[in-house]
Amino acid sequence: MHELIATLSDLHARFLTALRDAHDEASIEALRVAYLGRSGEVTTLRRSIGTLPARERPDAGKVINDAVALMEGDLLAARAHLEERGIERALAESVDVTFPSIAPLVGSIHPVRRILQQACAYFQRHGFAVVLGPEIEPDYYNFDALNIPKDHPARQGFDSFFLTDSLLLRPHTSPMQIRMMQLHQPPVAIVAPGKCYRRDAVDARHLFQFHQIEGLLVAEGIHFGHLKGMLTGLCRELLGADQRVRFRPSYFPFTEPSAEVDTTCPKCKGHAETCSMCGGSGWIELGGSGMVHPNVLREVGYDPELISGWAFGFGIERFALTRFEVDDIRRFVECDPDFLAQLA
Ligand code: PHE
Repeated sequence: MHELIATLSDLHARFLTALRDAHDEASIEALRVAYLGRSGEVTTLRRSIGTLPARERPDAGKVINDAVALMEGDLLAARAHLEERGIERALAESVDVTFPSIAPLVGSIHPVRRILQQACAYFQRHGFAVVLGPEIEPDYYNFDALNIPKDHPARQGFDSFFLTDSLLLRPHTSPMQIRMMQLHQPPVAIVAPGKCYRRDAVDARHLFQFHQIEGLLVAEGIHFGHLKGMLTGLCRELLGADQRVRFRPSYFPFTEPSAEVDTTCPKCKGHAETCSMCGGSGWIELGGSGMVHPNVLREVGYDPELISGWAFGFGIERFALTRFEVDDIRRFVECDPDFLAQLA
C-alpha cells in the first residue's frame, strides 16, 4: 500500500509539472489522455489492483480514486486559467480611439440624372407636370401619330431597335406628346424625361442609349415666343445666367415650323475661334423643337383652329458634356468612381 501511495504521489507531481508547462488546450488534453485516458498511467495502475491481496484492494481503490479526483480538479483549474489568460490578452490589445478612420465612400447622384432633375425642377416651377413613359413603344406612338406614316423617309432617322414588327425601343421621348394629349384636354403642360435608344455607332459624341427631356405646352394662344422664353430660361438655369438661345430652321414631321436649338458655348461664350467645346462656332446644339403640327393635333382630337402648342426634345448628355466640360460622352456610362467623384 505504501508503495502505491508513493507511486501515486510521484505520478501526481510529474503530472503537475507537465500541466504547468501546458499553455494551450491541446497540450492539456494530451496530458489528460496520458494520465487518465483509457490506457493512461493511472488507469494502468488501477488495473494492477487485482494483483493485490484481497483485503488491501478497497483501500487501494480509494487511494487511486482520490488521486484521480485531485488530477481532474487540476485539469479544470488549468483550463479556467487558460481561458482567463485569453480574455486578458484580448483586453490588453490596445485600441487607439484617436486613430483617423477610413473615410467611407460616399456616392453621388450621376451628373446626367442631376441635370434631368434640375431641368424637371425648372419646368415644375413653371407649372409643368413631370411624366414618365414606357421605353418600349408601339410604332403608332413613335411614328404614325407623330405624322410619320409608314414608308416616310423620316422614319430612317429614328430607326431603332425593333422587338417585333411594331414594337421598338423608343428613339425619342416624343411619343409622350401623343400619350398625354390623348389622355387630357388642353391646356397640357408636361415634360417627359427618360432613356432613348438609337442604333448609332458609339463614339465621343454618340451612344446607342442616352437621355432626353421632352417638353410640350398646348393651349389656346400658345406661340413660338413662349417656346423661346422657356428654353432660354432653361439654358440659363442649367448653364449660366448669360446664356442665349438660337433657333435654326429645321424639319421634323411632327412640328411646323421646326427648329434646331443651340445655346451659346458656355466655355468660350462664342469668342474663341479655337474653342475645343464648340469647335469655334460659339454654339452648342441641344436638340429639336417647333410648333406642334396640325396633323398631330387632329390625331389626338384637338381642333388646330383653336389650339396651338410647342414641343421640344433635348439630349441631356449634351447638357452634361457642356456643363461639366467633358470631352467624351462615353465617360458618362463607364461608371468610373474617380470621374464621377470629380463632378459630384
Ligand atoms: N424628337 C426629336 C428628336 O429626337 C426632337 C423634337 C422633339 C423635335 C419635339 C421637335 C419637337 O430629334
